[in-house]
Amino acid sequence: MTAGLRALDLTGRSVYICSADVFTGLRIRDAGVNLRIFCIASTLGFGSFFLLALPPQEGHQRLSAAEAKKLKNPVSYTRKSIAQGRISFARFCTPCHGPDGKAQMDVVADATDLTSPNAFKSGVSDGEIFRSIRDGAGETMPPFKTQIDGDTDLWHLVNYIHSLWPESMRPPLEDDKSKEKDR
Ligand code: HEC
Repeated sequence: MTAGLRALDLTGRSVYICSADVFTGLRIRDAGVNLRIFCIASTLGFGSFFLLALPPQEGHQRLSAAEAKKLKNPVSYTRKSIAQGRISFARFCTPCHGPDGKAQMDVVADATDLTSPNAFKSGVSDGEIFRSIRDGAGETMPPFKTQIDGDTDLWHLVNYIHSLWPESMRPPLEDDKSKEKDR
């Protein structure tokens, strides 16, 4: 889909300052946002009236840090949940974080070492980790809300990440058979 930024110059003529292909792909959409900022800046620079014609962002909004902190992990920390998380991790996360989560591969040099909570820059509460995965983190961690459909799988990933932490920092492992209510 082509989205353009139209501006009216001072004589009232409609001019295209710039336009960009905006796909649903996350990276390209991010690029679109940057372009939009650039376009606004350049439009203001020209002193023209401007009109934005970008498609609305679909999906939910990024959680704020405060909102994320309040979230409670509804999925018990059990072997089963960790195993589910490990499957998603192998599928989506190892190219950047490495098979062991330590990000020691040279693919993406600045990916966080997920085995070390002290290295986390975007928070270590369950909700904050959930948010980092769902909405992305920093400049380069992509959001996974479209690839990983459903909050439960995201929470399994949160549980899996906990399992990578030093034992003293992990939550107590719960019995697979215990019911949610028994927590
Ligand atoms: C394209 C590479 C890439 C992929 C794929 C990726 N990550 Fe990341 N991830 C990063 C980078 C880079 C950072 C560091 C972001 C920053 O600078 O804060 C990061 C940060 C994180 C953080 C936040 C850590 C912190 O610093 O607070 C979590 C949690 C995380 N990733 C989990 C995951 C999970 C789970 C997956 C798979 C679903 C995944 N990542 C896939 C690159 C990636």
